[in-house]
Amino acid sequence: MQTNSFNSICTSRFSPLFIACLFFSASSFAASQQELATTGMAVTCANCHGTYGKSIKDGALPSLAGMKSDYIIEQMQAFKSGARKATIMHQLAKGYTDQQIKDLAAYFAAQSR
Ligand code: HEC
Repeated sequence: MQTNSFNSICTSRFSPLFIACLFFSASSFAASQQELATTGMAVTCANCHGTYGKSIKDGALPSLAGMKSDYIIEQMQAFKSGARKATIMHQLAKGYTDQQIKDLAAYFAAQSR
């Protein structure tokens, strides 16, 4: 088993790979922190757009789950600049950086419809 052998290499204090292992765990920790940050932002959208971006079928609010990420980015930027008129989203969109919008778009595009 790959994970077990990786763990046993890493838990041996005399392993020459010990430092590499520390480095490896730190970088996967950073990745999961990024994922947590994106999920944290996305749950705020769930209030209106539904859990994981799946809104009620035929409801007033669009489902974001499975929407193309380019489309989400375009709409968020249009809300932000005021190019797309809105009741709510023009205010919310202003609170996110371009990178956060990209991360949110990727998150919702990856959810199943
Ligand atoms: C308070 C309710 C509310 C929250 C929270 C909310 N939205 Fe919206 N969203 C709306 C409404 C309402 C619309 C329709 C446009 C409008 O009138 O603002 C919309 C429209 C959209 C659209 C356009 C969809 C389409 O079919 O063109 C996108 C994309 C979107 N929201 C993304 C988000 C994202 C990402 C978040 C979280 C950062 C979010 N929304 C949070 C209410 C909300």
